[in-house]
Amino acid sequence: MNVSATVPVNDGHRKALAWIGSGPGKLLIGGQWVDARSGKSFETVDPATEAVLARIAEGEQADVDAAVAAARKAFEAPSWSGISPYLRARYLLNIAETVEANADELAAIETLDNGMPLAMSRARVGGAAELFRYYAGWVTKIFGRTDPWDSSGFLYTLREPMGVCGQINAWNVPLATAAIKMATALACGNTVVFKPAEQASLSTLRLAALIQETDLPPGVVNIVTGFGTAAGAAIANHAGIDKVAFTGSTAVGKQILMSSVDNLKRVTLELGGKSPNIIFPDADMDQAIKAAVGSFCGNSGQVCSAGTRLFVQESLCDEVTERITGIAAGYKVGSPFEAGIDMGPLISDKQMARVLSYVDAGRDEGARLALGGGRVGSRGYFVQPTVFGGVSNDMRIAREEIFGPVLSIIPFRDEDDAIFQGNDTTYGLAAGIWTRDLSRAHRVARALKAGRIWVNTYGPSGAIMTFGGYKQSGYGREQGAESIEAYTQTKSVLVKL
Ligand code: NAI
Ligand code: MG
Repeated sequence: MNVSATVPVNDGHRKALAWIGSGPGKLLIGGQWVDARSGKSFETVDPATEAVLARIAEGEQADVDAAVAAARKAFEAPSWSGISPYLRARYLLNIAETVEANADELAAIETLDNGMPLAMSRARVGGAAELFRYYAGWVTKIFGRTDPWDSSGFLYTLREPMGVCGQINAWNVPLATAAIKMATALACGNTVVFKPAEQASLSTLRLAALIQETDLPPGVVNIVTGFGTAAGAAIANHAGIDKVAFTGSTAVGKQILMSSVDNLKRVTLELGGKSPNIIFPDADMDQAIKAAVGSFCGNSGQVCSAGTRLFVQESLCDEVTERITGIAAGYKVGSPFEAGIDMGPLISDKQMARVLSYVDAGRDEGARLALGGGRVGSRGYFVQPTVFGGVSNDMRIAREEIFGPVLSIIPFRDEDDAIFQGNDTTYGLAAGIWTRDLSRAHRVARALKAGRIWVNTYGPSGAIMTFGGYKQSGYGREQGAESIEAYTQTKSVLVKL
């Protein structure tokens, strides 16, 4: 395995290494790059090589206080609150341009720090640019109404920004999810205090530096890197923050919600999932099986909407399991900079240990390990594509989010049973349906309790496609038209004539 990520594969990779070498691990507060007030910093590693990439400033309460003050000042300044929607849209379009112009470098930074295959990073950077463009389009289309009143008055509504938005991100697709959060907040006229995940902060720091080059007023976007229990908790608790958007685990999401109570800040939560992917016997089997493998191996399974519970009609289970393992066994696991690689490493040794502990749990509960189940190599956090057959929906491997390349194949009897088992989970983020029967497709799409349904495909996303959870997969929505509601509030104004 070639794990030598220090030999650049292209110019963007070369620039990424030079930028990382320049010591970029600072906080962005009020337009200035500064060290943490405590002087503390921590290491971020390349999960493919376990090499330390850089030191990152360890922000805490005092740094969050300063960032919130800067964001409040920027929110109230006429240079942000008073500008025309055309100019606000142009800021977002300029950010999209600069993201695209620096795409190869951003992709290499993402791959170095997070470990996702370079082709995937590059596609996600392209998606990030599209997100900024999509939200630039919204800026001029966020408006209130005139409402009916009697002839003595005139009633209208204003749709206004929330104010200062705290945004706490996960490590699995860092740049793309940062783009979603920042672009929506800015389009609606808010300012931002953003905390990337401690495992992969670098692409967000580079994005912030590029945003600064577009002359966005200082303090509109602030970045406080650091750990969840200090910087993250300071954001979640802060009386000066009007809204918190969080992506991460359900357990922490519940804490964020509890922290919001003091000042009743608005909260949106993008949490975990244990999504059902249902293959009916009348499906196009070749397509369904190929997509099923991609849906649990993509990004090494570190995807909140991964299709980790594969439901197969009981008479087809053996055949489908065999075909799935055949394809997954051919997946190439290795250095994410190597061309043609299918899976890079997991994010950390902790995540690898967690994933491997679920392999033991599956075995202990009597599931049949049909493929994988082990680490690949001894350097870097690589895990084999792993398939369990004979899983029942009440086993831990079918109930808990593993966030690694582990698939549970579960038999169903008929359509009703597939729907029942598909919904028999505390989560409700996404679901896949494979069938050639049009009525069945729509019937099952309605019956499944999940925020996003794919029929005869699994996984496509985009700025236009609303995303969010039913049940314990979250609160509120990101992307699509609903996301504008999550970053604005409505005021009604009655004028007596
Ligand atoms: P996490 O939920 O602890 O971390 C997510 C973000 O929240 C990070 O930025 C972290 O610094 C921050 N955070 C942590 N504790 C906080 C607190 N008390 N207050 C405020 N912010 C806090 O997730 P972690 O530990 O990195 O991963 C553990 C598991 O969570 C994974 O194995 C996976 O199952 C799940 N997860 C799910 C994600 C999803 O998109 N569905 C994303 C990341 C993790
Ligand atoms: Mg890292």
